[in-house]
Amino acid sequence: MSDNTNLVDRITGHRRMRRNRKADWTRRLVRENRLTVDDLIWPIFIVPGSGIVQPIDAMPGVNRMSVDKAVEAVKEAADLGIPAVATFPNIDMALRDETGSNSLAADNLINEATRAIKRAVPNIGIITDVALDPFTSHGHDGILRDGEIVNDETVEVVARAAVTQADAGSDIIAPSDMMDGRIGAIRQALDAAGHQNVGVMSYATKFASAFYGPYREAIGTGGLLKGDKKTYYIDPANGTEAIRDAALDVEEGADMLMVKPGLPYLDICWRMKEAFGLPVFAYQVSGEYAQVKAAAANGWIDGERVMLETLLAFKRAGCDGILSYFSVEVARILAKR
Ligand code: PBG
Repeated sequence: MSDNTNLVDRITGHRRMRRNRKADWTRRLVRENRLTVDDLIWPIFIVPGSGIVQPIDAMPGVNRMSVDKAVEAVKEAADLGIPAVATFPNIDMALRDETGSNSLAADNLINEATRAIKRAVPNIGIITDVALDPFTSHGHDGILRDGEIVNDETVEVVARAAVTQADAGSDIIAPSDMMDGRIGAIRQALDAAGHQNVGVMSYATKFASAFYGPYREAIGTGGLLKGDKKTYYIDPANGTEAIRDAALDVEEGADMLMVKPGLPYLDICWRMKEAFGLPVFAYQVSGEYAQVKAAAANGWIDGERVMLETLLAFKRAGCDGILSYFSVEVARILAKR
């Protein structure tokens, strides 16, 4: 047999992986994962005032927007088919205090944005972050007492803040503070207030990561933060602990789970999907965005291709969707295909 005439055929036994890769049409035919606009959640930053579009230094292409400008941008996102936005407020420094009390105000910036977006763009989903960090004078996600972020009191405030967000029209509450028991407390508070249809997307596995730097510039907590968040976010070294933490959130009633940051934690995405079968979302965070933009600006990588590859990698890792600052840019590219 000619079997013995060819070294590679003898080694591979005629199994050649490259046959399916030989042409664009074969590659398209066997492609396992696809990124679509339906996978995208767009995080946006809101500032007080009107007519404001403010670039963020460490996130080229991302702006803080006043509510009126945010509404215009969200309209565009909806027209591109993006299913949902996630809003993050940059609260006036004068309104920040030790306990984050402005988080409970029915008319605070995040709730004002929700109302305006709901009114103008009723068909897009609104996901609101319910942590206290935009509202505290020390930049922590909880109430700080004697040097400690106190868990149970923080949970009470976060659950009440969640209700004000649902009252304003938020569709999904996304607590990012990592206090113990918050998912159950939020679920109970929402139900007691008649918000049975408002969902909870748990930032189930949020790691104490250095990738959040540019975000803290965006919402103005960078300079404020005293210490670090290691007593409440998960140690980046721990995968099994992350799954245990997520299991509690599932028991407490989370509808969706999130992994944050994204790309360095794809193993966690996969394990979460396998363990629970719930919808899993990755948050491709500010530092991940900044890395791609900075390297692309230097001509070191092809920014567009890297951006698309990172997002596809989340799909391969089992994610149902991605919170990404690239969302609008990507949606425009996908619309042209
Ligand atoms: C805090 C919060 C963080 C992000 C969103 N909400 C992390 C932090 O400041 O510690 C990070 C998002 C990003 O980096 O894009 N509740």
